[in-house]
This record gives sequence, structure tokens and C-alpha cells, in this order.
Amino acid sequence: MKKLLIFNWKMAPDSSKEAGGLFADYLKLLKAKNCKPKAELVVAPPFVYLNQFKNLKTEKPGNLKLGAQDLFWENFGAHTGEISAKMLKNLGVEYVIIGHSERRKYLNETDKIINKKVLTALKAGLKVILCIGEGLSTRRRGKKYVERFIKNQLQKDLKGISKNYKLKANSLIIAYEPVWSIGAGHSDTPEDALEMIKFIKQTPVTGGYILNSKVLYGGSVDSKNIKNFLKYPEIDGSLIGRASLRIREIKNIINL
Ligand code: PGA
Repeated sequence: MKKLLIFNWKMAPDSSKEAGGLFADYLKLLKAKNCKPKAELVVAPPFVYLNQFKNLKTEKPGNLKLGAQDLFWENFGAHTGEISAKMLKNLGVEYVIIGHSERRKYLNETDKIINKKVLTALKAGLKVILCIGEGLSTRRRGKKYVERFIKNQLQKDLKGISKNYKLKANSLIIAYEPVWSIGAGHSDTPEDALEMIKFIKQTPVTGGYILNSKVLYGGSVDSKNIKNFLKYPEIDGSLIGRASLRIREIKNIINL
């Protein structure tokens, strides 16, 4: 199965000029004759720059797709500051990240909110990248606690998704991101990440239903350590934050 790499720009860069420049660098890399990425690639810039990347389909090199970093669960109405699924679709967005730990932490996004967003996005035909992962205190308590935490998060965030819920192939992707490894400069060990990813793949969601989703690893992944994760067939790709803003890193990552 093709691996999936998500480049999450988070709240960067500061200007549309810089975003355009960085994006042009991505395109240049992908258009180069010797560049043959084996993975499917998704770039998720901040909302305000999505419009610049709208024409991705026509000038699309390689497998580059467009993603957003969040969305709102209502489709219309008076919701100041929010962005709907339809707005994203109209900008050519195919993927949306939901439940990133930074939003859970700083914006108090609960599993209930995340669940509403997941269902809205899937109904709208967007592909969801649902982020889950335990904090340091849970990890320190041991594997049994981590598994309990992850199972709980998964089942709450995916409530309502049962066998009857018509999931299109590959429309739901899980990103396992231990919170303590995000932006920390030190990732989880590939072996521990692998164990958790296997666990996620076997965990039933509501109604005893096992998802057939891709599961990615995220948290301080860069060009130096990514191979150690992707060498396992069970790890279907990666969610990459900081390294996605450095073009040399991107070059080394996509040419793996
Ligand atoms: P990082 O971020 O690669 O900077 O740790 C990962 C993420 O966006 O989840």
C-alpha cells in the first residue's frame, strides 16, 4: 500500500509571499526529473493561504494533494471565525486534520467536538486525518494505561461510525501522535510507535467494528528518522510538522 505523508505547516509562515515561495519550492522539487515520490503527499497550509494553492489539480506534480488543518462542524449559519467543509471543498481541499493535540490542549477541543467535526467532514466527502495520542503522564504509567487512553479517545472521536456508516475507501486516516513527542525534537521509538499502531488497527470502534484505516505516526519526524518508522509495513505514513517548513528536509523525505 502507498504510504501517506502529511505536511502540516501549522501557524506558519507569516506572509502569503513566504507561503507562495515555500509552495513554489515544493512544486519545483516535485517537478524535477529525478524526483519520483513513492508516497502520496498532502500539504496542509493555514486557511489563509489555501486559496493560493487552489490550482493544485491543474499544475499538480506527482501526488501532491491539498489539506486543511481544521474545520467547523456546522455547514452554514452565524459562526464567526469558523470555516465550513463546503468552503474547504470549494478550494480544492481533499484532506482535513481533526483533533490535533495542539487544538485539544490550547482550544480545549473535546472528544465530543472532535466527533462532530469528523462526522461532518466525512459526510462532506473530505478525507479525515484524525489525530490521537497520549500525554506524558499516561505514558509514564505504562502500556496498559496508554492502550486504555487510546481506545477511549478512538471510540469517542469515532462515535457513530459503525458498519452501516458508508466510509469510502481511505476516507478515514488515523495519526498516532504521542503528545510529548510533538515539536519536542525527540520522537517516540519506532518500536513503541509500531506497537501502538498495531493496537489501533485492532481496536474496534463503536459497535465492535474494526476500521480498515491507514494509521500514521507523527511527532518529531524528520529526514533522519523517518525511514525507521516507514520501514514497517504497518506504519502507513507520517504527519510531519516542523520539518515540512524546511525545503531541504522535504527533498530528503519525499525522495525516500
Ligand atoms: P512535529 O509536529 O513534526 O513538529 O513534531 C507533528 C504534528 O504536526 O503533529
